[in-house]
Amino acid sequence: MKEKLVLAYSGGLDTSVAIKWLQDKYGVDVVAVAVDVGEEKNYEEIREKALKIGAASAYVIDAKEEFARDFILPALKANALYEGRYPLSAALSRPLIAKKVVEIAKREGAKAVAHGSTGKGNDQVRFEVSFMALAPDLKIVAPVREWNLSREEEIEYARKFGIPVPVKKEKPYSIDVNLWGRSIECGPIEDVDREPPEDAFLWTVSPRNAPNEPQYIDLEFKEGEPIALNGEQLSLPELISRLNEIGGRHGIGRIDMVENRLVGIKSREVYEAPAATILITAHKDLESLTLSRELLHFKQNYIDTKYAELIYYGLWFSHLRDCLDGFIKEAEKFVTGKVRLKLFKGSCSPVGRSSPYSLYDISLATYGEGDIFDQRLAEGFVQLWGLPYKIEGRRKRE
Ligand code: ARG
Repeated sequence: MKEKLVLAYSGGLDTSVAIKWLQDKYGVDVVAVAVDVGEEKNYEEIREKALKIGAASAYVIDAKEEFARDFILPALKANALYEGRYPLSAALSRPLIAKKVVEIAKREGAKAVAHGSTGKGNDQVRFEVSFMALAPDLKIVAPVREWNLSREEEIEYARKFGIPVPVKKEKPYSIDVNLWGRSIECGPIEDVDREPPEDAFLWTVSPRNAPNEPQYIDLEFKEGEPIALNGEQLSLPELISRLNEIGGRHGIGRIDMVENRLVGIKSREVYEAPAATILITAHKDLESLTLSRELLHFKQNYIDTKYAELIYYGLWFSHLRDCLDGFIKEAEKFVTGKVRLKLFKGSCSPVGRSSPYSLYDISLATYGEGDIFDQRLAEGFVQLWGLPYKIEGRRKRE
C-alpha cells in the first residue's frame, strides 16, 4: 500500500499541479484538504476538482468559526498590526490551515504533509513551523519550492495531465483572502513608486466614491471581545463580515506599505481590511479609557508589538504566545464598554466611548465647574519629578 501525504489544497493552479507532481515524484497517495477561512469560494467544486486531478481523497473543512474565535480574536485583543499597519490576515490563517492538515494526517495515518507556498514568502515559514510544532515527526514537503518550474512550464505540465488551467487572462495579482482581510501582491504592485491601480481593490470603494455623508456605528465589547454592532448581538464571524461590508462602502481599510519579510527582502504589499481596521481602532480606543497609563503603555510597547511579530514570524504555536495570552487575558478584564465610530471617506474615527470600568473622571479632568483636582499637590510633584534634570542642568553648566 502506498504511503499517504496530506496537502493543504486551495483549488488554485499551484496546489492542483502539486497533487499530480507529488504522486509522480514521491509515489504517495495525496489527500487534499481545503480549509474554509472565509474566502467565499465554492468548496464543493474545489473538493471535486482535487478528486478529478487524482487525489486519493479530499476534505473540505469549514473553519470560519474557529478562525474567528481562536485566531482573529486573540490578535484583536493584542491590536496586532505588523510594522504598525498590516492586520496579519494571511499570517493568521496559516497556523489554522496547518492545524487542520495535521488533524487529517493523524486521522489518515499519513507520514507526510505538504503546502503550496513558494520559497520567497512568509507563508512557507508559517506552515512549516506550525507543522513542526504540532507534529514534530511528520515529513514536510514544499512542492512549489522544489519543482522549480517557470509559469509556462507549470501550465504545460498542467495541460499534459488534464489539470484545468485558468482560461481567461487573469489579473496580474497574487491574492490571498479570508475573513480578516485581502492581500494583493505582484504585477503593478511591485513598482513601489506607483499608486496601486483601482482594479487591485475588490472589497473597498475608492474613498472619492464613498458616500458624502458620514455613517456612525456603535461597537460593544466585553473583556476585549466585540459582541454587538449597533445594539445587535452578533457572532464574531457575522460581526466581521458586516463590518467588512459597511467599512468597504466607506473606503475604509486600504493599506499600502513596504513590508519586511522574514526571508530578508522588502516587499510592496497592498491590503484591504475594513473590519480589522474598524475593530482594532475601536478596541484601542476602549483600552485608552479603561487601562491605566502604565499598563496601556506596557501592553502597546511590549505585548502588542511582540504579538504581531510572533504572528508574522510563524510562531503561533509557541509557549511565548501562551504567555502573552495570559497577560492579555488579565489586562482585558476591564475592556468592556462601547465605542462610537464615524466612518467617512476612507477614515474611521472614534468619536465617543463609555465603560462601566472607565478610568476617566470628569471631576478630575474638567477645567469647568465642579473641579476637585487639587492643584497645590502638583507643586511638590513637579519639583521631585524634575529634580534629576535640575541636577543634570547644573552639571552641564559647570
Ligand atoms: N505579505 C503578507 C504576509 O506575509 C501577505 C501574504 C499573502 N500570501 C499569499 N500566499 N498570497 O502575510
